[in-house]
Amino acid sequence: MTTAEGSVAFDRAADYYDRTRALPEATVRATVDLLAGELAGHGRALEIGVGTGRIALPLHRAGASMAGVDLSAPMLQRLGHNAGGTAPFPIAVADATRLPFADHTFGAGIACHVLHLVADWELAIDELLRVVRPAGVLLVDPGGGWPTEHGQITTRFQQEARAQAALPGVGAAADRTLAGLGRAADLDAAIDARDGRLRLLPVVANPSTKTLSAVIGEMEAGQRSWNWQLSPADLRRAGERVRTWAQDCWGDLDAERELAGEIQWRAYDLPA
Ligand SMILES: C[S@@+](CC[C@H](N)C(=O)[O-])C[C@H]1O[C@@H](n2cnc3c(N)ncnc32)[C@H](O)[C@@H]1O
Repeated sequence: MTTAEGSVAFDRAADYYDRTRALPEATVRATVDLLAGELAGHGRALEIGVGTGRIALPLHRAGASMAGVDLSAPMLQRLGHNAGGTAPFPIAVADATRLPFADHTFGAGIACHVLHLVADWELAIDELLRVVRPAGVLLVDPGGGWPTEHGQITTRFQQEARAQAALPGVGAAADRTLAGLGRAADLDAAIDARDGRLRLLPVVANPSTKTLSAVIGEMEAGQRSWNWQLSPADLRRAGERVRTWAQDCWGDLDAERELAGEIQWRAYDLPA
């Protein structure tokens, strides 16, 4: 589902997002410690693409002053539900490329797993830089910190599904999005050109116990935004091919496995 000129709103994911993207408790704790430390002394932080509050709610509970915007009203409703009925900090339906805030309103900006969904992600960066005060900080997780097996299955599934649907391959020349881990360098370069200085924050471990069958099953069920433009039939056929390939690589797909993921947050210090 694409709205707001080239962005992907998550309306259709609101019901399953938390179930399929939940982080283990220890990962949430380590993330909150890390980010709350970065936010300390900066004043209110704005998270663009705040979604169901997966990051913002635990930060709020740890004492960080938060605000959030999202294109998707159903995701924000879920945030309120997750908080016990009402949003515990200011939230608004808004487009990250056109933020409804005056210059220098916030002390910090957060973008977690959202920039790859915004065709004009550089405009979203410009908007964050506009609404965050000088000497503030941007905290970004561009995504892609999946366990190795999950990452390889994602790539293979995308290739198979796009081939089924006769769509251009992932990373085709026309694809200016930040999709894919390799593009974090583009993000660093864009923010560097705007005088934001990168610090790579310590890696947070993100382990999970899952069967590879479940990993593939989420893709077959169309629960990843990159496959929302594909038909159920294309997804099913791609899934069959990926299952055969994955079995050759890893054996029994129904065996529970310890998958080792890592999350790498990027901090960008803004000029005074
Ligand atoms: C993958 S979810 C991430 C949610 C949250 N940051 C997290 O880490 O769980 C991406 C969210 O960004 C929102 N989104 C996509 N494009 C947007 C835009 N241009 N402006 C605001 N929100 C956007 C989607 O609706 C979705 O809720």
